[in-house]
Amino acid sequence: MDEIVINGGKSLAGEVAISGAKNAALPMIAASILTGGVFSFSNVPALKDIKTILALISCLGAEVSREEDTAVIDTSNLSVFEAPYDLVRQMRASILVLGPLLARLKKARVSLPGGCAIGARPINLHLKGLARLGADIKLEHGYVEASADRLVGDEIFFDIPTVTGTENLMMAATLAKGTTVLRNAAREPEIVALADMLNNMGAEISDAGTPAITIRGVEGLNPVSAEIIPDRIEAGTYMVAGALTQGRVLIKDCEPDHLKAVISKLREAGADVSVSGKNIEVHGNTPIKSIDIKTLPYPGFPTDMQAQFMVLMAVAGGLSVISETVFENRFIHVSELKRMGTDIAISGSHAMVKGGKRLSGAPVMATDLRASASLVLAGLVAEGTTRISRIYHLDRGYERLEEKFSGLGADIRRVPGGGA
Ligand code: EPZ
Repeated sequence: MDEIVINGGKSLAGEVAISGAKNAALPMIAASILTGGVFSFSNVPALKDIKTILALISCLGAEVSREEDTAVIDTSNLSVFEAPYDLVRQMRASILVLGPLLARLKKARVSLPGGCAIGARPINLHLKGLARLGADIKLEHGYVEASADRLVGDEIFFDIPTVTGTENLMMAATLAKGTTVLRNAAREPEIVALADMLNNMGAEISDAGTPAITIRGVEGLNPVSAEIIPDRIEAGTYMVAGALTQGRVLIKDCEPDHLKAVISKLREAGADVSVSGKNIEVHGNTPIKSIDIKTLPYPGFPTDMQAQFMVLMAVAGGLSVISETVFENRFIHVSELKRMGTDIAISGSHAMVKGGKRLSGAPVMATDLRASASLVLAGLVAEGTTRISRIYHLDRGYERLEEKFSGLGADIRRVPGGGA
């Protein structure tokens, strides 16, 4: 399997363009199931997870073609209601086809996504919500079997503001009879982008981005073209890299409005962050200060930026407490970071990060998407060489990562084959 090799110590400088957001593209591609016709998506990132969802949509009977950053999907002949285990196990977000399949084909059989490294990640809230809309739900042989002649709108309260749960229910409710209100709904920008696409298709959704989303059911929807919004987590990762390496990085084609918490925390840590239109410049010209971080659902500090920020705190000047409130096991990167010389102690959902350390390069292993990003960041500042194995985790969510970092002056390369 490929590895990434980094010789650390370079300050990054230059410009990096941000790709389309994986976590926006996945639900928007799933939404194409809701009606027959030709959909065209632009600014679609070239990522493993996008390949997986397009393979899944094809399995259901859609015609898919991919050209550069565009994906064209014809769902006219989509008629298969089963999402097979071998695809769902590759990507938990495959569960996003459940709501649209149920709404369009009146039944769905989707393999239960297993847990993953960062937590058990159940889908009970997705299923409870669909049952609330009148679906008959069975769990058999590792599959969810759902059926409903026609879903009926109702009020749904999410115990936790689940991102894909909100997306699944919002999609299912577009074709329900009557009105659905999702309360304690997730507020991520990817949910607003999905609602905008669904409304362009003819749905009647209001207040997406707030904790109470209203969906008035309609009789039918139309295919559309849609552009994928920029990836706020990719942008945040490069912002941290600029501060971490005491460099000067211009992040282009991003959406600063989606990064308010990350910008605020970087400034609090002493980085010079300036925003202009769709660009953010991060100048790491002063010593980084230790600050405390607590991950929260949007608009709070994103859990998907926690591992990256931990590396920044590892080289900051004091003691930082990082609290992970979203997932129960999202400190897996800590053991690998400790092998690079960080001083981090975990107590429950808190990580105490003692800064002022000089990281040293080492062979390390990626375990999940954002943990892999933190290992790359650590390699950029570590003294000596870092070899990262199992980088297929990275390829799920970062488009052309080593090319983009090389363009900023990093000494980074992908080594085909390599170790275990
Ligand atoms: C989405 O995952 C993202 N993935 C994740 O990004 C992100 O970390 C997460 O939201 C939180 O922001 C996609 O959008 C494809 P949740 P999701 O449902 O929807 C619990 C990445 O790096 N929960 O908001 O699966 C759950 O266990 C990925 O790109 C239930 O208990 O997350 C977790 O503790 C990683 N029951 C919390 O809620 C449910 O039915 C938040 O999960 C659903 C969720």
